Amino acid sequence: MSESAAQEIPMSRRQLLSFVTGGAIAATTAATLYPVVLYFLPPSTAGGGEGVAAKDKEGKDISVSKLLAAVTPGERVLTLGLDVNGGDATYIVINDQKEVANFGINAVCTHLGCVVPWDNGAKQFKCPCHGSVYNADGGLERGPAPQPLALVKTTVSEDKVLIAPWTEQDFRCTDLWCNKDPYWA
Ligand code: FES
Repeated sequence: MSESAAQEIPMSRRQLLSFVTGGAIAATTAATLYPVVLYFLPPSTAGGGEGVAAKDKEGKDISVSKLLAAVTPGERVLTLGLDVNGGDATYIVINDQKEVANFGINAVCTHLGCVVPWDNGAKQFKCPCHGSVYNADGGLERGPAPQPLALVKTTVSEDKVLIAPWTEQDFRCTDLWCNKDPYWA
């Protein structure tokens, strides 16, 4: 549009165009910044507890009462949980008293990142990619993985399992690995 044509636009119409253009820019900026802002906000909580609620494969919060009705003592249950390193699959640990333990296990192999299945018969995690083996607590039993599976903190609140980063010392020690400081912190 030429300058002379622009001058022919009535003031009220020009103001309307400015308003619409400004609104479009503001909306685009907000849409762009929204995920950035979300990234810096702390994870959502459930029931006022600490952490994010563990979810099933359909993305729904896991019900602890339903979970415990379906598992056996000592089982490890794969969920979508926190991400200590960005949204990884996480195992909820069922202890021998058939309760949710106060720690969970990141399911990502520390070798090259395959998700490690739980073998409930052998009570081990066995990586299908290159054969690393982890014990029932995620401690390293056989490489080539260089480190145990990462720990997360788990708590039960209002029938949900809340997952938060592990901030304490690593309680695991095996022949292959014995480091008291969490390597992933
Ligand atoms: Fe698990 Fe290589 S990715 S052993």
